[in-house]
Amino acid sequence: MERTFEVRAPGRVNLIGEHTDYNGGLCLPVAIPAATTARVSLRDGAVHRLVSAQQDEPWEGTAQDAAPGAVRGWAAYAAGVLWALAEAGHDVPALDLRLDSTVPLGAGLSSSASLEAAVAVAAVTATGRQLDDALRVELVAACRRAETEVVGAPTGGLDQTAVVLAQAGHALLIDFDDGSTEQVPVDLAAAGLTLLVVDTRVSHDLTDGGYGSRREECEEAARRLGVPSLRSATPGSVAGLDDDVLRRRATHVVGEIARVEEAVDALRAGDWATVGRLFTTSHASLRDDFEVSCAELDLVVDTALQVGALAARMTGGGFGGSAIALVPAERADAVRRAVDTAFADRGLATPGHLDGTPSAGAALTPSR
Ligand code: GLA
Repeated sequence: MERTFEVRAPGRVNLIGEHTDYNGGLCLPVAIPAATTARVSLRDGAVHRLVSAQQDEPWEGTAQDAAPGAVRGWAAYAAGVLWALAEAGHDVPALDLRLDSTVPLGAGLSSSASLEAAVAVAAVTATGRQLDDALRVELVAACRRAETEVVGAPTGGLDQTAVVLAQAGHALLIDFDDGSTEQVPVDLAAAGLTLLVVDTRVSHDLTDGGYGSRREECEEAARRLGVPSLRSATPGSVAGLDDDVLRRRATHVVGEIARVEEAVDALRAGDWATVGRLFTTSHASLRDDFEVSCAELDLVVDTALQVGALAARMTGGGFGGSAIALVPAERADAVRRAVDTAFADRGLATPGHLDGTPSAGAALTPSR
């Protein structure tokens, strides 16, 4: 093993399948070109040193110093992974990690999972292991433990699975009921399409109460229906829920899981009109029934569709964050400009624009 190397882990957007992961449902994310990189060197002793270009405070400590409750802030995500890997029996040597990221923080593009995955790949690479499929699955588990146990964010695993298992040119179909995954080819260039990502710059924090309360409502709906998770609910059973809020939350989840299946078929067939219809229905369901959209996300979606997008919807957890739009490549600039103008007209800060090209998952950067 070289004593110095570099790894890279991407952000992600979810094409469809929102708030379905913690309901045992289906998701269909792609990794994006924006990524976290880590320059890695081995140190003597047992103390890791983590520095991030995006953060003021470095973190130093052993894996045990990053146990749940012992560490806060950005280091909980990064060092939390070192703790989770140690718990899983990985003997990681002391590391010096210099992290830097082009994934905007709080934009709903999985800057956290990207950071976690970069640390995870760095750590196991330092043990001399090659990243094969089985090891990738272990890394997903360690990143999920860091996020839920060390950070305390009650997220459902979509983000970590996406950024570790994604492949370039593909979306990743994830089944959270049985844990299986499948690569679904998405050849946008052949279809003359571009996947635009628009960061509304409205803040998004999954440790805030909104995300957790949606999750609790879904669990309560499943309890009242007498099913282990909403994956086993049907449109008919959900319609019988007395409580209006629980009925609308469950209606979203059941419909969204069915839409992922339809979207996979439509993508395989290159049926973009159907993809567009599914994105529109998904967005409306997240806005009206699940209530996690916001005015800025709705504005991006409506504007993109007016200016020629084939499909547009919010992506990720919501409460701000980002939207995606599939547009004919020659319309991409016009759509970006129209969104900027719509934001300026309403006195909103200029949104961020990112490339959504389906990209590779976390990996060692080949040495030059
Ligand atoms: C966030 C969470 C994921 C998932 C999405 C919504 O990104 O981290 O686990 O629940 O929201 O689909």
